[in-house]
Amino acid sequence: MVQERRRSWAEPYKIKMVEPVKMTDRNDRKKALEEAGYNTFLLHSEDVYIDLLTDSGTSAMSDRQWAAMMMGDEAYAGSRNFYSLEKTIQDYYGYRYVVPTHQGRAAEHILSQILIKEGDIIPGNMYFTTTKLHQELAGGQFVDVIIDEAHDPDHEHPFKGNVDLNKLEDLIKKHGAGHIPYVSIATSVNMAGGQPISMENLKGLRELTQKHGIKIVHDMTRVAENAYMIKTRETGYENAHVADIVREICDLTDAATMSSKKDALVNIGGFLAVNDWDIFEEARNMVVVYEGLHTYGGLAGRDMEAMAIGITESVQEDHIRARVGQVQYLGEKIDQYGVPIVKPIGTHGVFLNARRMLEHLPQDQFPAQTLAAELYLDSGIRAMERGVVSAGRNPETGDHIYPELELVRLTIPRRVYTQAHMDVVAESVEEIYINREKVKGLKMTYEPKYLRFFQARFEPLG
Ligand code: F0G
Repeated sequence: MVQERRRSWAEPYKIKMVEPVKMTDRNDRKKALEEAGYNTFLLHSEDVYIDLLTDSGTSAMSDRQWAAMMMGDEAYAGSRNFYSLEKTIQDYYGYRYVVPTHQGRAAEHILSQILIKEGDIIPGNMYFTTTKLHQELAGGQFVDVIIDEAHDPDHEHPFKGNVDLNKLEDLIKKHGAGHIPYVSIATSVNMAGGQPISMENLKGLRELTQKHGIKIVHDMTRVAENAYMIKTRETGYENAHVADIVREICDLTDAATMSSKKDALVNIGGFLAVNDWDIFEEARNMVVVYEGLHTYGGLAGRDMEAMAIGITESVQEDHIRARVGQVQYLGEKIDQYGVPIVKPIGTHGVFLNARRMLEHLPQDQFPAQTLAAELYLDSGIRAMERGVVSAGRNPETGDHIYPELELVRLTIPRRVYTQAHMDVVAESVEEIYINREKVKGLKMTYEPKYLRFFQARFEPLG
């Protein structure tokens, strides 16, 4: 039999403008790292060579989006750009009512305050930092009902974002549906490593929650990436369009919050969207207090226009294939070096298994924080801790929460870096892996009260 030759594919765009980046040496980086308290969030971006801190707000906009920015209608009320954004969200995602916000967490804040009462339980497919905090600030308690496989970085389950319906059913029995206002579902689950939820699971969840009169609130920050994984992994969806899969996902849920800084290819923006008029009414009242009038929600008109176009681009097949494809390329390369990573490779980044990479460091020496610092020192690559520092403390006992997953996230901005950048990243990870036994842990010297990973400071041990 004739073997089919492997053919390369490349990005469905070409580069029209470049942004030079500073090249630094190890001494420069050591100094910058010390000044930043060994926290990559506190580095100046000027001192970073390849910035993989996040895929949030770091995308390159298209020429069409930039052109749209010139069409901003900066009226205080009733901006044309709001109506264009509203219509795009209704057309592509299907939700009836839209409230723009300056970013995702503002939408989470408003929706949590409206839907959660003191003592409520919010089940979800793994927590996200800001989402969980807003649920807690509204008086709720988040309970993780993701399948067990999601907590095992080596398990190759194709849909590690799935909800364990038995866990959820037990929870409903224990607390009663009256204390569970909604199930909090993320598509392409960030903290699990960018892992998708399957349509089959979502349908099962819909059936179960409907039976008990419980809503589903969808964190749709990376919904197109999830839809692409359904297309490539779930039987029956091989020939479906990503745009249609996105719509089908949204139609199985009641409300959504979105950080448009990811999938939707803008540098700032978000929204909440609901099908229920009464919730919409309350959200419209609240947004005026915290964000701005309900037709701009903290955004400039031009930003809303760029978001509307970004949404249409995010579900184009060529785009999403190249976006997820670049992440897969990096992941496969690192995997070939034998470095432990979360499997399967996620949709928005490659997650290094810091716990296994730096086996000699106990979790209270912050292995993932340490690994992120080492990566910066080695090559000027900036990554993000997603482990014990991000997990924070148990609000009741005050102890560190020790999550199973102690990870470093190499998050790939959309349409920004080239394959050569990916090669440099993989080689730097390999370098640290080879010399891993020499790496020493960190101790925390400053700890903020909320979302401590953003501003905590550290010093090297020993
Ligand atoms: N939900 C998810 C799944 C997210 O990944 C984020 C942000 C948010 C909500 C909050 O949105 O930043 O616009 O307020 N994630 C970024 C990240 C910060 O790096 O993963 P935001």
